[in-house]
Amino acid sequence: ERLQPTPQSLAGKKIIVTAGGTRERIDPVRYLTNDSSGKMGVAVATAAQQAGAEVTLIAGSMKVTPPTGINVISVTSTNDMYEAVNEQFASADGLVMAAAVSDFRPATSADHKIKKDKDHPGMTLELVENPDIVATMGAKKRADQFLVGFAAETNDLKQNAQKKLTAKHLDLMVANDVSQSQIGFNSDDNQVTFMWPDGRQQQTPIESKAKVAEEIVDIIATDILKEK
Ligand code: CTP
Ligand code: CA
Repeated sequence: ERLQPTPQSLAGKKIIVTAGGTRERIDPVRYLTNDSSGKMGVAVATAAQQAGAEVTLIAGSMKVTPPTGINVISVTSTNDMYEAVNEQFASADGLVMAAAVSDFRPATSADHKIKKDKDHPGMTLELVENPDIVATMGAKKRADQFLVGFAAETNDLKQNAQKKLTAKHLDLMVANDVSQSQIGFNSDDNQVTFMWPDGRQQQTPIESKAKVAEEIVDIIATDILKEK
């Protein structure tokens, strides 16, 4: 019953996959980050490679090791990830944006360890917005390039994910409801709803991230790239 992507269905295609979380530096010993494990992105990179694609994995901080034979570019901050994606995108057929990107970064990064001030208890950290990587690629993608985005939502999953699908010019949105599930950032399993720009939606059962990744690769090969 396992869905088997056609062997070599992505042969000759160059695909960028981002994975993991970003780190936004506060001072030399502190940063802002999130719980992303990198598992979903690594699963997509693996499945795309097995389907014959030339894969570049742009990896933030991850709790898993990427498989061998995949070109890995390691990055730290959202700005670093943006620069790496931007550099690779023109020569790629598509981007799968599985990384959990920090929406904000500290307005300034101190060059010394920030000290407590006993006379002024409490602390306010000023944050500024990071670039939206996939939306920027969406604004400039060629007709023959595709974008896959992810959205984890706690409420109004379909409305929120649909808005992002449209606003970021995605060809596929992989949305998941994280409101009351055990299938979090570090899980080996996932349950997602695939959403297409034409309004089609398809929910998967709870299944392994490897299976979700194979389905994403299959949709890219048999659905998205056929239209390009
Ligand atoms: N994304 C991105 N660059 C950002 C933020 C998000 O490329 N600065 C990508 C994510 O990797 C994901 C998609 O956009 O593929 C949706 O991310 P999400 O955080 O759900 O959406 P946001 O637009 O950041 O909206 P929200 O305010 O709900 O966080
Ligand atoms: Ca966000």
